[in-house]
Amino acid sequence: MNQDVSIRCCGLVLAAGKGTRMHSNIPKVLHKILGEPILWYVYNGLKNLFDDKDIYFVLGHGAEIIEKEFSFVKENIIYQKEQLGTGHALQCAYETLVKRGYEYVLIVNGDVPLTNVHKVQTFLKNSFSEKKILSFMTIVLDNPTGYGRVVRDHSNKVKKIVEQKDISNETIASIKEVNAGIYVINLPKIKNYLFRLQNNNNQKEYYLPDLVQLLIKDGHEVFAFNVGKGSEFLGINTPRDLIFYDDLFQREIVNYFIDKGVVIYNSNVVRIGPKVKIDPGVQICGPVEIYGESVIKKGVCISSHVFIKDSLIEQGAVVLNFSHVEGGKIGPNSKVGPYARLRPETILEQDVKVGNFVEVKKSYLAKGVKASHLSYLGDSEIGEDTNIGAGTITCNYDGKNKHKTIIGKQVFVGSNTALVAPVKIGDGALIGAGSTITKDVPENALAVARERQKNLKKRM
Ligand code: UD1
Ligand code: CA
Repeated sequence: MNQDVSIRCCGLVLAAGKGTRMHSNIPKVLHKILGEPILWYVYNGLKNLFDDKDIYFVLGHGAEIIEKEFSFVKENIIYQKEQLGTGHALQCAYETLVKRGYEYVLIVNGDVPLTNVHKVQTFLKNSFSEKKILSFMTIVLDNPTGYGRVVRDHSNKVKKIVEQKDISNETIASIKEVNAGIYVINLPKIKNYLFRLQNNNNQKEYYLPDLVQLLIKDGHEVFAFNVGKGSEFLGINTPRDLIFYDDLFQREIVNYFIDKGVVIYNSNVVRIGPKVKIDPGVQICGPVEIYGESVIKKGVCISSHVFIKDSLIEQGAVVLNFSHVEGGKIGPNSKVGPYARLRPETILEQDVKVGNFVEVKKSYLAKGVKASHLSYLGDSEIGEDTNIGAGTITCNYDGKNKHKTIIGKQVFVGSNTALVAPVKIGDGALIGAGSTITKDVPENALAVARERQKNLKKRM
């Protein structure tokens, strides 16, 4: 952990809820902002504050799907089988955290992206020095609807938090200071209160924020850390909230790259994920989407309507309009598109050309290979300077299994050739247009596998 080592503190993400207000079968925390799940932003934020081994998750609804998407520390997943509220979620985690020797826990709602880690860290430090049993972060919102309102007494001391659904009067409804859903709690000292939570509210849930009232009634003070207008701590409950963040981060990331020296035309419709790396001098013309672990090197040009995910685009490469590139590499000075599709595990070395309506899947294209028009190349290896004619198809699937097509160097594959895999074409071979190749072709051979043309007398 990056802060005071004498304090044993862990992070706990509450992510078991269904997210009913998203109207979707996907667990809420897996909804994406610029290609990454909401939960990634929470996890990534916490990683700045804690070691992986000290970050815990409460999962419930859709747990199996969430676990698959993340490489969580397995032993750090706590299951909340029935989602009986945020207080119940903490009850489920309690024993595990105490057993592992933590004194404090930083609890965050799984639907609040933690991009402003600096503020969370300040909150954490202040909470430690305040030494209260419970500290929580508050924000001030022009429109507090949906949030737990922070009710204070005449001397400005916090009295309780009232959830939206339990608000019974206008005065409380008009309070603009709300609970951000980020708490620091002293584990040994909260025990008595945590297991005394009641669910006699309009949602019949055990609310974590009700701990505030329980503590105060018992003569304890709580620490409310107000970070002011904290729109970066808004929770994501509805599609509208999701799109609010998506728009916000879209602009922030695009501006970041423009300031670094990337030329981005039509930048309002360029979507770049938070993990993407782009060198200064790259030119992009929107609309374009670039997601995942993509890396775009110096001198690359990306035209409009291009989609790139988890791919490396090397120096000087060009990706022309309407191309779709996923999980591969485009080598230096190569040219892809317009209308090309590179599927996962495709590697193009330098000076390769993949033209319009060419689909390449799990294939290696060596330096100088050209497949300029209308082809499907799947499970193949193609040697240097080979030319693939228009309409070439690698028939890689026999209905049961996938097979490889291996094509040597400086081969010329004539147009409209079907290469029935498994098959090998030797270096320097020439394949006649319209052939269906089912047997290996030796080096430098001319292979023709089609009916010879007959010109017959036309019947009158
Ligand atoms: C919660 C707070 C509210 C605060 C707001 C800030 C409660 C009762 N209310 O409201 O005071 O202003 O966040 O964004 O906590 N979850 C579980 N198990 C459950 C229920 C929820 O793990 O049984 C998780 C959800 O997956 C979610 C988080 O807890 O990530 C918050 O739950 P949510 O239902 O979104 O609470 P809010 O109504 O937004
Ligand atoms: Ca919420």
